[in-house]
Amino acid sequence: MLAVFLFAAGQDTSAKLLGNAIRYLAENTAMQATLREYPVKIHAFIEEMLRLEGSTKVTFRVARKDTHIGDVAVPAGTRVVSSLAGANHDPARWADPHAFVLERPKIMEHLAFGRGAHTCIGAALARAEVRVILERLLARTSRIALSEAHHGPPGKRELHYEPSYIIRGLESLHVELTGK
Ligand code: HEM
Repeated sequence: MLAVFLFAAGQDTSAKLLGNAIRYLAENTAMQATLREYPVKIHAFIEEMLRLEGSTKVTFRVARKDTHIGDVAVPAGTRVVSSLAGANHDPARWADPHAFVLERPKIMEHLAFGRGAHTCIGAALARAEVRVILERLLARTSRIALSEAHHGPPGKRELHYEPSYIIRGLESLHVELTGK
């Protein structure tokens, strides 16, 4: 049972994060150039991807006792949706929250992997998986671009995200790679 849960929790989430990251890179040649020149920054790139487009948007809780969140009363038994993506864009916590900032202070303090007792057990694995893939992909290519045949030209892109309340990820992604 544990193995099944680990597999289920870890596969789609990591795959979707990788897709979100490659889509971002494909549309930002300047970021590609930066990361090719300074692969050490791939770590920060992944953290900003997690903050801005983490693959898990929400998580759920049931209040075990009467409590409150801010000014809102939450009676025992209430189901609560916690918006990780919302918190990760909170202007009270993040300066210029929609900007992609590789040098952001405390860049790992986002909530893309949750927080507290149930913090993602696979966070280190997911970070390593995506980092190794991006390092190798960037080192072996001179250009990563979206396929216009599948996604249309710049300004008229068609990118479809899965209609999921929980997962942030593309239904499909087609890229063209140019070797070195
Ligand atoms: C980018 C990839 C991933 C994201 C965004 C992600 C996100 C999350 C989040 C937000 C939670 C907390 C859920 C909650 O508080 O209710 C969580 C829990 C969990 N994750 Fe991940 N996860 C990822 C990858 C993985 C991987 C690779 C594995 C396993 C190999 C994994 C296994 C788990 C497990 C077992 C839990 C439950 C922990 C507990 O309840 O104590 N996740 N994950």
